[in-house]
Amino acid sequence: MKRVVEPAELRQALALGRGRVAFVPTMGNLHQGHLALVRRARELAERVVVSIFVNPLQFDRKEDLEAYPRTLERDAELLEGEGVELLFAPTVEFIYPEGMERHTRVEVPVVSEGLCGASRPGHFTGVATIVCKLFNLVQPQIAVFGKKDYQQLLVVRKMVADLALPVEILGVETVREADGLAMSSRNNYLTTEERRRAPALYQALRAVAQAMIAGRRDYGELESEGRARLDAAGLQVDYFEIRRAEDLAPAGENDGRLVILAAAFLGKARLIDNLEVELR
Ligand code: PAF
Repeated sequence: MKRVVEPAELRQALALGRGRVAFVPTMGNLHQGHLALVRRARELAERVVVSIFVNPLQFDRKEDLEAYPRTLERDAELLEGEGVELLFAPTVEFIYPEGMERHTRVEVPVVSEGLCGASRPGHFTGVATIVCKLFNLVQPQIAVFGKKDYQQLLVVRKMVADLALPVEILGVETVREADGLAMSSRNNYLTTEERRRAPALYQALRAVAQAMIAGRRDYGELESEGRARLDAAGLQVDYFEIRRAEDLAPAGENDGRLVILAAAFLGKARLIDNLEVELR
């Protein structure tokens, strides 16, 4: 696996190879969830490029950015073992040479608003800006994202459609621990006791999904029940909402493809998860 830091080196390395490029953008601290994206990318294209860049523009809190785990050497070893051809791990200076304040931003309206967009102002503008820039640098035919960050996936899809970017976006199912907790770098922040309580998030999503499948359509009431379950487990609810899967618009009684999305604080961690529900 070749490792490059500068955009110019990246361009050179890309020019040397042949075949379709599948791209997996990450912020590092890789776990099985990321490796599932890399494996899917390998099935889809001859060449896999992964980026590791902790993007300061998408952090709304300085402490969160500083605390974000950086484990580049270990990440590189894992990617090598997965047959990745190229790792692009730029510095902040290469991505934002004149500083973040002077950098062009990509804003994706509507789908970025509400949910995580409401609790983390500017977050999705930071995500859309870096993903757009990485797409332009790597020029992949396919890019792979985890469905755990469901709103992020829809923001990226909308950006690609609106800006006519020539890349196909693929969403990959969330990888879970044995007790249902969605894998995330932020799980590292949980104490042993918090880790024991964390699966309550997935359990609440499942309980509400089962009620919907059993025929309930009183979505406001179901959202309250979901929040109450999280409260009872000692999680501090940020949101628990049932939305249309396609565009995150409020769920209507006649919508068939829905998604339940939740975010909650547990100690130092802010956990997010979601569950898609197909109703007939
Ligand atoms: O999901 C992430 O890890 C990040 O938001 C992404 C897509 C790599 C952009 O920085």
